[in-house]
Amino acid sequence: EFIKDVTGIKVLEQQLKEKLKLDHVVVIPGDSDELDWVKQEMGKACVEYLKTHLDTGETVAITGGSTMASVAEMMTPLEKANHCMFVPARGGLGERVENQANTICAEMAKKARGDYRLLYVPDPLSEESYQTIIEEPSIKEILNMIRNASIVIHGVGDAITMAERRKTPQTQLEIINERQAVGEAFGYYFNQTGEIVHKVRTVGLQLEDLPSAGDVIAVAGGKSKAQAIASYFQPGQSNVLITDEGAGLELIRDY
Ligand code: G3H
Repeated sequence: EFIKDVTGIKVLEQQLKEKLKLDHVVVIPGDSDELDWVKQEMGKACVEYLKTHLDTGETVAITGGSTMASVAEMMTPLEKANHCMFVPARGGLGERVENQANTICAEMAKKARGDYRLLYVPDPLSEESYQTIIEEPSIKEILNMIRNASIVIHGVGDAITMAERRKTPQTQLEIINERQAVGEAFGYYFNQTGEIVHKVRTVGLQLEDLPSAGDVIAVAGGKSKAQAIASYFQPGQSNVLITDEGAGLELIRDY
């Protein structure tokens, strides 16, 4: 049932672009749920996009997750990366170290030959600690960089998969279930109509910071993420989507 020819992929890219009202869409043939190399190809496509869109002096904020790890894995020196700053968009969100934004940010920056700064805060945070921590001068400085990032690159996850992977406390898991969250990005959980039904309290990029970034690139694929991608794009926070055929076909068909 998969598309075999390039024309078919181009048609799917165009359909997704119209449906999700995006500036740019890349669809990689295949399904990353089944084949690891499809995820790597999405990573490569993201690197290609950066090659033509990253300008000297820009700040790039990136999130965590295995898809973002693939972007870092496929990163090559970027001509304009000198004087560019790579920063993690948000805290660790309870992910294992290889899936944390800090780890991925450092690898990506080194391979791109750019500079980087990391964010050392425990998370999730209580409201009280959050208010204290964001007043720390060293944290404030990096938070400013993050908020002023002109390029944001992020993953999108299936809500339940992400909540379980991140060892979310039982009370929060119940909320995520009860409120029927289907998608997750930046530690925000969305229901089918794109409403935020839960948010992990942590420092870093907040959803309301996104409109000031020039390019917000979502990298997410696999048939299992179609609904998650659809929910995240309901309010339309990103302008670029790098995905695969598995997610793309399902998204056009069912959501
Ligand atoms: O926020 C979304 C997740 O970071 C996606 O993780 O790329 O491992 O599916 P993943």
